[in-house]
Amino acid sequence: MAALSQKRSCAEVMADFKEFIWNPRTREFMGRTASSWGLILAFYLVFYAFLTAVFALSMWVMLQTIDDQFPTYSDRLANPGLMIRPKTDGLEIVYTNGTSDTWQSYVKALDDVLQDYNVSIQEQRGSVCNPGVFNNQNDAADVRNFPKKACRFERTLLQQCDGIVDPTYGYRSGQPCVLIKINRVINFRPGVIHSLSNHSITVNCSTTRFKSSVNVSVSIADNDRRLGDRIYFPNNGTTFGTFDLMYFPYYGKKAQVNYTQPLVAIKFLNPEPDTDFFVQCRINADNINSNDERDKFSGRVIFKLRINSK
Ligand SMILES: *[C@@H]1O[C@H](CO)[C@@H](O)[C@H](O)[C@H]1NC(C)=O
Ligand SMILES: *[C@@H]1O[C@H](CO)[C@@H](O)[C@H](O)[C@H]1NC(C)=O
Ligand SMILES: *[C@@H]1O[C@H](CO)[C@@H](O)[C@H](O)[C@H]1NC(C)=O
Ligand SMILES: *[C@@H]1O[C@H](CO)[C@@H](O)[C@H](O)[C@H]1NC(C)=O
Ligand SMILES: *[C@@H]1O[C@H](CO)[C@@H](O)[C@H](O)[C@H]1NC(C)=O
Ligand SMILES: *[C@@H]1O[C@H](CO)[C@@H](O)[C@H](O)[C@H]1NC(C)=O
Ligand SMILES: *[C@@H]1O[C@H](CO)[C@@H](O)[C@H](O)[C@H]1NC(C)=O
Repeated sequence: MAALSQKRSCAEVMADFKEFIWNPRTREFMGRTASSWGLILAFYLVFYAFLTAVFALSMWVMLQTIDDQFPTYSDRLANPGLMIRPKTDGLEIVYTNGTSDTWQSYVKALDDVLQDYNVSIQEQRGSVCNPGVFNNQNDAADVRNFPKKACRFERTLLQQCDGIVDPTYGYRSGQPCVLIKINRVINFRPGVIHSLSNHSITVNCSTTRFKSSVNVSVSIADNDRRLGDRIYFPNNGTTFGTFDLMYFPYYGKKAQVNYTQPLVAIKFLNPEPDTDFFVQCRINADNINSNDERDKFSGRVIFKLRINSK
């Protein structure tokens, strides 16, 4: 008791501490002799080496089970989504007719997307495929059909929206083009709807809801009339946009390095100015659901189009 209550001087505390760090009598460093420290170090060295080995082994075993050309789990992606180009925040294409500053960025974005679709580039990367049928290149038992060929999609297929016929993609004349892209899903083979086309799956667009400062009580049908005439490219002679079956299935980035995603361009020929149009584009294929209330991008895409007159 007396010892505890005794005040120790600062020098004494320092001396004790120094002795703890290095005790010259017992030759102990921080309370342990060199051989004791050596044993501890050796123990941890072996312990961690063992852990590392177990980790590496299980990693290796896991990697053996993975096919490097095909994802093991891909069932979540079975329903391809649609996306538009130019893609903007909020999927809005809003510009002022006759003011190039307001649409230049859209034209630039389309130019960028279509670089890869230049005829010269597609001629190097792609092969000429049989139109209207799947580009099947399955692996036979143990023999890999590799590398897999990709079908050409040349930008000229987009005709008036190819950026060559009209380098402003119609934005200058108030008849803008928008590109519709179908997302890649490995090994997915879309089913055609025979009444629409036997060679392609199709896509078409119309207005959904309506917002206008002038008249809010306009019906969807009336609104769709105001959106005006639309034309799709490529369309294979139909009134729809068409994704030819030869661009399916997609075999994955590794197996089919040069794969080019097919596109459909929609050109709005005479949309009324100063009106917010909410345009919905839907895929028509018998195994793609474009009605999923929870997923607004599954088999469809909705974007806003507005052309201000001044
Ligand atoms: C693709 O074609 C466009 C228009 O002809 C041209 O401006 C562009 O430089 C070409 N891009 C490539 C990568 O060849
Ligand atoms: C992919 O494209 C490159 C040129 O960009 C070409 O040299 C190569 O042969 C192509 N590969 C296949 C499998 O077609
Ligand atoms: C936009 O401008 C072009 C030419 O300047 C004109 O032909 C067209 O009717 C205009 N469109 C709208 C929606 O104002
Ligand atoms: C698709 O083929 C079926 C059966 O051959 C035929 O009845 C149908 O008219 C074809 N559809 C189109 C759009 O040509
Ligand atoms: C596309 O066309 C089909 C068949 O004519 C029609 O039932 C559907 O409403 C259209 N969809 C859109 C989004 O316009
Ligand atoms: C609004 O639209 C309705 C239906 O198309 C029409 O009957 C009505 O006259 C319009 N009102 C105005 C102010 O334009
Ligand atoms: C539509 O595509 C099929 C198959 O690719 C082809 O045989 C047919 O000639 C095409 N029709 C038109 C009008 O382009």
